[in-house]
Amino acid sequence: MNWNIEELGYQPEKATGLGNKFLIGNGYMGIRGTLEESKKDQFPAVNLSGIYDQVGNGWREPLNAPNGLFTRLLIEGKEYCLSEKEHKAHTMELDYRHGIFRRETVFEAAKGTVTLKTERFASMVDKHLIALKVTLVPSYDGEIEVITGIDGEVWDINGPHYDSVLTGVTGELIGAVATTHEKQDKVAVYEALEIPSVAGQEAAIAEQSTKEKDRTVLRHLKLQVTAEKSYTFFKYISIYTSLDTAAFQEEGKQLVLEAKKRGYEALLKEHKNNWEKKWSRSEVEIEGDDEAMEALNYSLYHLHSIAPRHSKSLSIAARGLSGQTYKGAVFWDTEMFMLDFFLFTEPEVAKTLLKYRIDTLKGAKAKAGDYGFCGAFYAWESQEGGYDACSDYNVTDVFTGRPMRTYFKDKQIHISTAVVYGIMRYIEFTGDKELLSEGGAETIIECAKFYYSLLIKRVKDEKYELYDVIGPDEYHERVNNNAYTNRMVKFTFEAAIKLLEEETENKAEAAEKTLLLESFRDAALHLYIPQPDEKTGIIEQFDGYEQLEDVSVEAVKGRLLHEKEYWGGAYGVASHTKVIKQADVVTMMNLFSSEYDMEILYKNWAYYEPRTEHGSSLSACMYSMVACKCNMPDQAYPFFLKSAKADLGDGGKQWAGLIYIGGTHPAASGGAYMTAVEGFAGLKLENGELKAEPRLPKGWKHLKFKVQYLGELYQVTVTKDKAEVEKIRD
Ligand code: BGC
Repeated sequence: MNWNIEELGYQPEKATGLGNKFLIGNGYMGIRGTLEESKKDQFPAVNLSGIYDQVGNGWREPLNAPNGLFTRLLIEGKEYCLSEKEHKAHTMELDYRHGIFRRETVFEAAKGTVTLKTERFASMVDKHLIALKVTLVPSYDGEIEVITGIDGEVWDINGPHYDSVLTGVTGELIGAVATTHEKQDKVAVYEALEIPSVAGQEAAIAEQSTKEKDRTVLRHLKLQVTAEKSYTFFKYISIYTSLDTAAFQEEGKQLVLEAKKRGYEALLKEHKNNWEKKWSRSEVEIEGDDEAMEALNYSLYHLHSIAPRHSKSLSIAARGLSGQTYKGAVFWDTEMFMLDFFLFTEPEVAKTLLKYRIDTLKGAKAKAGDYGFCGAFYAWESQEGGYDACSDYNVTDVFTGRPMRTYFKDKQIHISTAVVYGIMRYIEFTGDKELLSEGGAETIIECAKFYYSLLIKRVKDEKYELYDVIGPDEYHERVNNNAYTNRMVKFTFEAAIKLLEEETENKAEAAEKTLLLESFRDAALHLYIPQPDEKTGIIEQFDGYEQLEDVSVEAVKGRLLHEKEYWGGAYGVASHTKVIKQADVVTMMNLFSSEYDMEILYKNWAYYEPRTEHGSSLSACMYSMVACKCNMPDQAYPFFLKSAKADLGDGGKQWAGLIYIGGTHPAASGGAYMTAVEGFAGLKLENGELKAEPRLPKGWKHLKFKVQYLGELYQVTVTKDKAEVEKIRD
């Protein structure tokens, strides 16, 4: 098992994708795998979690902090930046066991070469700290300058988000305090530099000066260098925002001064130990398939890097901490795709994710109210406070350049069911019912009220229906009775009923509860759930789907007039066909597989897969899960690998219409984990007991991992025909 990935050579067109692939992070911040010399046109970012800003009518998006990593060589008056300058060699490396990024570049200067090596990490121990080690090795005797400091000219998609960036020098520190446009929040970045006392080195880096200019504060180091000697310095960078603490500036300064005292190696050691602890709970071993084991653990690395451990109430954005795409917003991705990983390996994080939903209930209730409904309608693209960042015009038409009316925000009602599903699953696997009294129960009831207010009953019919929705397949808008949505809404009613039945009530509330119980019971009983067709066994994705043109994905693709054209919406090439964006019925079947015969599962899998574009990274894992449940691990395998490699390859889709959507794909990472653990190992609960059921793909000798269940740790070991689930000591 190789825990390093490498990129050899430099191709400018790959830089954006590599920024995601080589990302490091600690949940508070994500640092894109771009080079230290990068300025904003090369998309460097130190992306922050949970803090947003909006400028004018542009999209509201998370902040990128002023870039404290900025470092460039200056040789004979020329600045060296890989994108522009000749170089002899270049490699980038990510140690994803420990979240350490390294690069090594041999630049060609007039008198010879200069090798620039850097190593950096976002501390897992102190979430506000970044440490950077810079080493230079010249091939000649002479003078080299290094410019290093904080670059406040940050990359923004819909910015600039900082009205001002005040830079300054205080004693041995430099700092930049940026003020946001919308709420005048502050982001403070401080940096301390350490030039270690090594014979010759101190003398070489004798001259230091500092300059402030255009939102940057830079130190100039002048080095008198000797050929083949190496020169190293360290930077300790802190990031705090005014949302973290009132004393954000003082704490930021203090942190870097302390870090400098402790030194790079000590910080690195504790950072690595912290990662080792995480892997001791979460590593998945696959004997017989290194490629799969590496891709899967690389996916888990990404989930670890974006887990909001510094907070008790925060969630994960659809593109993690890889930048501002998708507005840094939280989607159903978290509960339906990422949650299980945290539930099984670090339930405290799962709780934090769900607390975010509970604490944004107010926003969800306000959204329901705005649309004239009761209860809680969660944001499709949720930011702080549950604010829905999704716009009514979320895609730009490539032909006219005009915004297109999309209905994700108002019609993708299944988002509230995901919140309910997440809370119920958390209770089921942790037994921690406190979450219910901490607002979880109220959240579930409010979601049920929302759906109750949406039910439609025709005068002549007994059944209740849900009209005018968008299911997981976003290409078909405003459909009636989407199978996934209806089934999940039924789940919501049932969850609410369970809670209401269990709750001990006071008299004053009794009447309201009785009424709610009656209503939800009636709703759960009468809600129409599309069933497998008697002849074909196929569940229709929504009313009328079967009447659509049955044409291949390739043929639909062939109809595109522009490669970035949007496939959905009113005129989309897929809208009037059976071609779907992502798993929809199959996602529903994965969740409720016990309700169907294997034959029905298989028929739907085989029917929908060729009609699926897999235009979303959420899609493949649902096909691998259901393939496992049909006992077809070898058919599941390519879908599993696709999910596990979502961020290892070329980075997937980068555009939706004219909107840049590049970034990491944590939902796919979570989906790969689910497939390994719940698919190939078949982990499930049976009468409250953890059971595994081996369905290993070809070549896999064993699959081994630990999971937590009801506060206990279990070792799961699965071979071709045997599964062991053993309680172990921590
Ligand atoms: C998918 C959604 C998903 C979102 C964020 C969209 O392309 O269709 O299901 O929630 O991306 O990942």
